Amino acid sequence: MNYDLLLANATVATMAPDGVPYGLMPRTSIGVTAGLISYVGPTDPQLSAATVRDVDGMLITPALIDCHTHAVFGGTRITEFEERLGGKSYADLAAEGGGILSTVNATRATSDDELTEKAAKRLQWLLRSGVGTVEIKSGYGLTGPDELRMLRVARRLGSMGPQRVHTSLLAAHTVPPEFRTNPNAYISEICQQILPAALAEGLVDSVDAFAESIAFNPEQVREVFSTARSLGLPVRLHADQLTDGKGAALAAEFGALSADHLEHASEAGLEAMAAAGTVAVVIPGASVFLDEEAKPNVAAMRELEVRIAVSTDLNPGTSPVASLQAAMWLATSRFRLTPEEALVGATRNAAAALGLSDTGIIQVGLRADLAQWSTDDPAALSYWMGAPLCSAVWIGGTLAHEATAHD
Ligand code: NIG
Ligand code: FE
Repeated sequence: MNYDLLLANATVATMAPDGVPYGLMPRTSIGVTAGLISYVGPTDPQLSAATVRDVDGMLITPALIDCHTHAVFGGTRITEFEERLGGKSYADLAAEGGGILSTVNATRATSDDELTEKAAKRLQWLLRSGVGTVEIKSGYGLTGPDELRMLRVARRLGSMGPQRVHTSLLAAHTVPPEFRTNPNAYISEICQQILPAALAEGLVDSVDAFAESIAFNPEQVREVFSTARSLGLPVRLHADQLTDGKGAALAAEFGALSADHLEHASEAGLEAMAAAGTVAVVIPGASVFLDEEAKPNVAAMRELEVRIAVSTDLNPGTSPVASLQAAMWLATSRFRLTPEEALVGATRNAAAALGLSDTGIIQVGLRADLAQWSTDDPAALSYWMGAPLCSAVWIGGTLAHEATAHD
């Protein structure tokens, strides 16, 4: 067999759930044909390919998947960051009209080209930490035209590459100023206009909402989710981040792909998620950046066999984290995930959180989304904070990033 690409002599962490930690295979070669993995097995001098790379024992994992980001936005929130360090809380800032709404104002005032250019830079940062697939949410437009504009920018980023982009409509992120006195009218607008328009234009892969005292109540989320499900769209939820708003159970009620944050989720909520197969996306970046004391109940998640994914939540207000490897470090040090759980959470389970079955594992027939690391130990990815360990990334078999000798 003549492959397009052969990565020889690798330490391969397939991340397949085969009972071996990390699905680890030493001295293994990976063959790639037409963008797909076509061989995973012993290194053999008989194997040939158009391009052969001897990786000399370095670790190859699936390219990482960042399943929760708000990477498209205007402005920054550096001033609010400083105000919070001076003693204000995230909820205080939101009540004063800052928080998400300050990014809404900045995003509305930023051109599509500038939004694209800034977000492309952030996706490049993620790429350097091994990320080959990125979920991007809207949610800083909060009008029909601005929400669709954000999703068009996200789609444009996907077609520009190198990463694959999955979009989520998060029109129900917070109540826009125009609807302050009548949030239910905004929910109706989402259901009757924004969601159908986004779907008709092919802009939306899933629908998200923020269930929280400073955002939307369960009834309002139910309306959005019922509409999404009736249109055949999967849902996901920002759930129980700041308070226990019964978000975990609400997500499960709609068979959500994921419920994200979950610092305040009850055990009953996690049980409902387990029964529904909803993935728990933990976001240690926001937890640390907001200095929240509550932590997701990882022990209960394990016990209940709820799959755990890890994401950056890259956004300007609560998680300016632009490395998924850094999020893995935070997930282990702050939430006490094991390094293996963190890597499963950034690969296989992150794919599940996006409903993707063609990536996240190294297996014949799946996409050749691969990351090479300058270590042979998969636990090193969660151990080092700030070390640029990712030395190359292939997305759909194409080399998308290669660290220079100076990296
Ligand atoms: O995931 N929780 C709500 N949404 C974002 C925060 C967005 C913002 O503050 O701009 C989050 O943390
Ligand atoms: Fe978020």
